[in-house]
Amino acid sequence: MNTQDLKDTNDLVSLCKRRGFIFPSSEIYGGINACWDYGPLGVELKRTIKELWWRSMTDREDIEGIDAAILMHPKVWEASGHVDGFVDPLVDCKKCKTRFRADKLEPSAKKCPECGGELTESRLFNLMFKTFMGPIEDQAAAIYLRPETAQGIYVNFINILQSARQKIPFGIAQIGKAFRNEITPGNFIFRTREFEQMEMQFFVKPGTDTEQFEKWKELRFQWHCGIGIRKNKLQFHAHGPGELAHYAKAAFDIEYEFPFGWQELEGIHNRTDFDLSRHQKFSGKKLEYFDEETKERYIPYIIETSAGCDRTALVVLSDAYRFDGERVWLALHPILAPYKVGIFPLMKKAELCEYSNRIYGELKKRFRVTTDTAGSIGKRYRRQDEIGTPFGVTIDYDTLTNHTVTLRYRDNMVQERFPAENLAYIIEEKIKNWGN
Ligand code: GAP
Repeated sequence: MNTQDLKDTNDLVSLCKRRGFIFPSSEIYGGINACWDYGPLGVELKRTIKELWWRSMTDREDIEGIDAAILMHPKVWEASGHVDGFVDPLVDCKKCKTRFRADKLEPSAKKCPECGGELTESRLFNLMFKTFMGPIEDQAAAIYLRPETAQGIYVNFINILQSARQKIPFGIAQIGKAFRNEITPGNFIFRTREFEQMEMQFFVKPGTDTEQFEKWKELRFQWHCGIGIRKNKLQFHAHGPGELAHYAKAAFDIEYEFPFGWQELEGIHNRTDFDLSRHQKFSGKKLEYFDEETKERYIPYIIETSAGCDRTALVVLSDAYRFDGERVWLALHPILAPYKVGIFPLMKKAELCEYSNRIYGELKKRFRVTTDTAGSIGKRYRRQDEIGTPFGVTIDYDTLTNHTVTLRYRDNMVQERFPAENLAYIIEEKIKNWGN
């Protein structure tokens, strides 16, 4: 049978649960809608994604990092436009009570697409989660959980400019949680109410923004290809005038072809001087840049790259999922695989286990490795295939006499024999040359 890609996201949901990537949040209480917990393998994968993103940004001389608070002064969200503008139109079905985003239905829809019941008039619904700071729950104490990490960067623009002694153009990168009270969350971790963003704001001189925008569009597209996402499953989508966010002059999405269609993975936005101008106005603090060389003073334009970390994890997992009628495996790039090598004594015999433990100890110095002695060797290979471990090493009776082991490849199941002492080097080379 031919190898197939992921056709139904539910297959991935069950693999993730079964193997410890992702669980429904608070599951023993019946779960809570659109919230998910990352298990041992999921957290490893997600941390690797974040680390790769972080290094791609902050290893550059012209990008600084930050970790701002989730709770911010409530005026931030007035200045940013979120109090007035971060709204979705909401309609309910009077009969089955299902809730829809009116902008996702046919403009003339009056009947529920689920049950044919009558729909309510559309009303605007703010997506920010509201809470109270301190013991008194009144309007004066109301604050929001941030719906994007970007604002924590804008309000620190001057702090970072001065302390890091950067010159324009330069960027500020941040990874952190964001919260949105989405009306229609779903598709596993695609749209959730609590999620992580990986955002970078690049501050540029007005007039150079279009060129910088194009540069970042390409860099971000290449980054996704670099972590192993198939290029033919990625595309750009340009926002038309009706789609542009309230702050944007131009915006492109990088989209991925999920089983449920082409959907946004990351946004690249030309936010102009909107954010800094608004914060300057609302805070009364100057947020200008002074160019020492040209003696010009201006409010910088901002090019934003904004990726969802959970959404990237979903893309990585969806893209890696393979099924050939019998076997399911995750064809993850080795840099992302939670374990790089699985080490197996052919049988649970003392002399094989002892040899295997020695190899385990050696390889552990260089890679994340795992070992498994339970069940037939075929079953053990399958378990590792399902979690995306690219290499399997098997220690058998020949190993005891000639010190060679079997190296098995996850994707084509080919096996080769190598001297045990060369293993680490061989695996390292194979990872380095992956995909070439
Ligand atoms: N600062 C700009 C901004 O937040 P956005 O297009 O609203 O722009 C950026 O969000 C990225 O954050 C999206 O491309 C997506 O990857 C991720 N994201 C947004 N809402 C999400 C949600 N409810 N669940 C998971 N990821 C989400």
